[in-house]
Amino acid sequence: MSKIKLAVLVSGNGTNLQSIIDNVRAKKLYASVEVVISDNEEAYALERARANHIPIHIVNYKASIKREETEDGIIKVLRSFNVELVVLAGYMRLITSRLINAFYMKIMNIHPALLPSFPGVNVIKKAFDYGVKFTGCTVHFVDEGTDTGPIIIQAVVPIRDTDSEETLADRIHEKEHIIYPVAIQLYAEGRLFVQGRRVLVKDYNKLTDSFVINPFDSLGSQ
Ligand code: GRF
Repeated sequence: MSKIKLAVLVSGNGTNLQSIIDNVRAKKLYASVEVVISDNEEAYALERARANHIPIHIVNYKASIKREETEDGIIKVLRSFNVELVVLAGYMRLITSRLINAFYMKIMNIHPALLPSFPGVNVIKKAFDYGVKFTGCTVHFVDEGTDTGPIIIQAVVPIRDTDSEETLADRIHEKEHIIYPVAIQLYAEGRLFVQGRRVLVKDYNKLTDSFVINPFDSLGSQ
């Protein structure tokens, strides 16, 4: 089996990019990051790409240029690297049908809440302020809606009375760094089947199950 070729799209810190790189290095993820694409040339994620000798491409979104045309440029880059799966990792731009159709069900995103609760932005704060007892993170395929695509894998994070928004964010990010590489590996192994809204995992087993994290594990009551 050859390594699946990834493009990772980033706008910020890039801790998810880092966990993908680390999992590739640890041979838990049979993939290669062919290119890191960013709309923000200041993104710290680009330092991580440079440190790992991964090619970088900066996208210029200009108000005068249609988003579809900007995405044509991205598609060109993706094709030039023979990218098989597009991984959005903190990419702060909305994607149009141009890119979605060019890589249909080949674009994944990670979202720091348990979808369909709290789509959109600033959702860790929104969940915290709402007072829900459980939140978490979701890896999903990207469709034309905002955070509405078929869900691949989720991890649950309890909100404790003693939490601040920051401590909660830390625990969500910890889980993100576990489930995103797993979702990519399942895709790479050809084990994800989209049936309508549902994504079924072939040979779903204990190993896979252990990543659907029981919230009580992290409360220490098991
Ligand atoms: C993550 O919380 C992810 O869920 C959201 O953006 C954040 C990116 O963080 N989509 P990082 O840049 O990977 O550190």
